[in-house]
Amino acid sequence: MRNPQKGIFQEGSNKFYYLEYKINFSLPLPTILNALRKIVSTNLKEVNLVTAFGKQAWNILQPNWQPDELIDFKALKGVKNYKIPSTQLDLFFWIHSQDHNSNFDIVLEIQDKMSDIAVLELDLAGFTYHDSRDLTGFIDGSANPKEDDRQLAGVIPENQIGAGGSYVLTQKWVHNLKAFNHLSTQQQEKVVGRTKEDSIELEGDEMPLDSHVSRTDVKVDGKAMKIYRRSAPYGSVTEHGLYFLSFACEIARFKIQLERMFGITEDGLYDKIIEYSKPLTSSYWFAPSIEDLEDLLK
Ligand code: HEM
Repeated sequence: MRNPQKGIFQEGSNKFYYLEYKINFSLPLPTILNALRKIVSTNLKEVNLVTAFGKQAWNILQPNWQPDELIDFKALKGVKNYKIPSTQLDLFFWIHSQDHNSNFDIVLEIQDKMSDIAVLELDLAGFTYHDSRDLTGFIDGSANPKEDDRQLAGVIPENQIGAGGSYVLTQKWVHNLKAFNHLSTQQQEKVVGRTKEDSIELEGDEMPLDSHVSRTDVKVDGKAMKIYRRSAPYGSVTEHGLYFLSFACEIARFKIQLERMFGITEDGLYDKIIEYSKPLTSSYWFAPSIEDLEDLLK
């Protein structure tokens, strides 16, 4: 039995840090693996660290096997000129705890080891905003799977290659809060598909077919395409939004939700949320199980 990296399911953190790297693969592999080994064996104390690899990086570092569905993120062209860029990179670290100082100590240690073997392309801090709200003011995570359902949604099952690991999607979304806040609360609720104050799902005729919930709450052949979301707000006064971070047992679940959000479906509908926020980065990753990570770095 292979076990997911602990930090994936550790809830209760309110300070987050995200690092995305491009590895210099012209270096000897032992040099790269040695740097990663040092990072993974860092004394983390109360900080959680999740490590995930892009397809090409995993191919090179672990040529013996790769998870069936792992792909590079391909840019998507949606309706009305809405786009998702691909900024696929090699290595993703998610650092989180209840203390920004402790996170930052670990981030500096990681960067110290990584600077010899890779270029840091994304360097971003996130935080819990009020009671787990997105910067739009809506609670984010209400329909997330709970308890054992989290692993069913977020972890590759036992009989598959990469079992105990997860497929991961990360996207840095930048919000246009001025435009969103221009809407009445009722209009905003129609965009999201839930009430703003209490996050109650709209029902019947109240729920638009192009709300965010309608476009992402998907069933295929009667099976709910659940994912386990761990996103958080980030930013400054001038640029802010949501760092979308999610784990799944199948990469197809992300693809179908993104296609429905961006109107790449026969019904021609798209998610109203993309009128108020846009993705600046997008990568798919593989977060191996604890055992497969140890095996890679032994
Ligand atoms: C600007 C970016 C985004 C924002 C602000 C946002 C915000 C929200 C909010 C407020 C909810 C309702 C509460 C909840 O159940 O968590 C929600 C639900 C959800 N979102 Fe997002 N989201 C964003 C992007 C995405 C993306 C890119 C995906 C998928 C690739 C996604 C997948 C989902 C799913 C699966 C649900 C639950 C639907 C359900 O079963 O009711 N979201 N999101």
